[in-house]
Amino acid sequence: MESNFKLSLSDLSFSSTPELKVMNFLNEVAGEFPAAISFASGRPLEAFFDVSKWFDQIELFANHISSKSGLDPQVVTKQLGQYGRTKGIINDLVAESLRLDEKVTVTGDDIVITNGAQEAMVLILSGLFVKGVDVLLVTDPTYIGITGLASVFGIDIVVIESDDEGPRLDCLQSKCKHIYEAGKVAKALYVIPDFNNPMGHSMSLARREALLSVADGLSLMLIEDNPYGLFRFENTALPTLKSLDSKGIVIYIGTFSKTICPGLRVGYIATELWLDDNEKRRLSDELTKIKSLISVNTGQVAQAIVGGVLLEHNCSVKHLIAPNIIRYKKNRDLLLHYLEEEFISSGRFKTGEVSWNIPEGGFFIVIKLPISFNESETYECAQDYNVICMPLNFFSVNKQYDRYIRLSYSYIDEEEIAVGIRSLADFISKKLLAS
Ligand SMILES: Cc1ncc(COP(=O)(O)O)c(C=O)c1O
Repeated sequence: MESNFKLSLSDLSFSSTPELKVMNFLNEVAGEFPAAISFASGRPLEAFFDVSKWFDQIELFANHISSKSGLDPQVVTKQLGQYGRTKGIINDLVAESLRLDEKVTVTGDDIVITNGAQEAMVLILSGLFVKGVDVLLVTDPTYIGITGLASVFGIDIVVIESDDEGPRLDCLQSKCKHIYEAGKVAKALYVIPDFNNPMGHSMSLARREALLSVADGLSLMLIEDNPYGLFRFENTALPTLKSLDSKGIVIYIGTFSKTICPGLRVGYIATELWLDDNEKRRLSDELTKIKSLISVNTGQVAQAIVGGVLLEHNCSVKHLIAPNIIRYKKNRDLLLHYLEEEFISSGRFKTGEVSWNIPEGGFFIVIKLPISFNESETYECAQDYNVICMPLNFFSVNKQYDRYIRLSYSYIDEEEIAVGIRSLADFISKKLLAS
């Protein structure tokens, strides 16, 4: 029987979200050229997923809860299969890890355990932003997980220009003024101060301190997303915004995706903010109410594994990832070595024609090219040269990074780095000759 019911792409509320097109395009390229060497993915290496220890870690966590509650460990273990507390069951352990690794002093009550950092962003954007009124400020380029989500929710985005040290504060002040003059509210600035995705840059200490002071003056919240900060290869760690925040204006997003594994989908929000009304309400409790309607709770088995891992490492994620850091640093060094070899020593390119930053940690590096590198070049490079790279424009709101690509060195074999960079150099060289 014929049906009158028809649903087309344009009927879907998010059909025009540009970030979805980007993700789709990348999946298509990766799917079409599965044998290509990919510098595109910011995944952590599977070699570090200690899956065989998960049952022991669940037991360790169950024993920990049992010793605190007096309940039989078997009862505790069974309860992990049940619906759970919306705010989470590993909050105290996460608070302790933040204290040890980041000098952030929050309590378990200030923490909401989420399904990865991505759900943390969902809760923050849906909980704090009034559509059509509140504006999300971002640096450009930035993580498309947040800009894409803002598009899906219909939240306005305004770009704050950056310099080498981080977001420019003069620009922040003038943009906020314009936003207020237009009758809207600059609600929060989203930043990744350490080894950001996509640039691999970090914000200077002076800029962190000044940003906190300016944001406070503007009544602006700061959303600090920190998936990569602990992956530092050299030099002294800089304090997170959250650890410098004496006013409680920083909402901190953490995740175990890169440090333990993304398949567990465990992340969190840390905020000690109390709402300014007569009844004493924590922001974390209000965000938890939204979570109860979005995902009910984060899987308790996954939380128990994370809890067990934390207990095993005395709550120090830094301690846990010490071997990972050695490996990622090795990959970064190899990448730098082959970039130098192919783009400088080889003599195939003029001095300074191709340049890159040297990230002190994290998963990403950015290359400046003498040619445009967008969708068609991504496809051509994958098809003809067997290498997949990420155009930086994919992460850009203003699309001003035509000649830049992001290379990720986290999810690639050592041997592939040499071959991949050589092929990339061949591709760039061919395009240059043709231009
Ligand atoms: C800056 C940034 N934030 C958040 C995430 C997502 O993390 P999760 O897997 O915890 O959702 C990523 C993942 O690549 C990221 O790069």
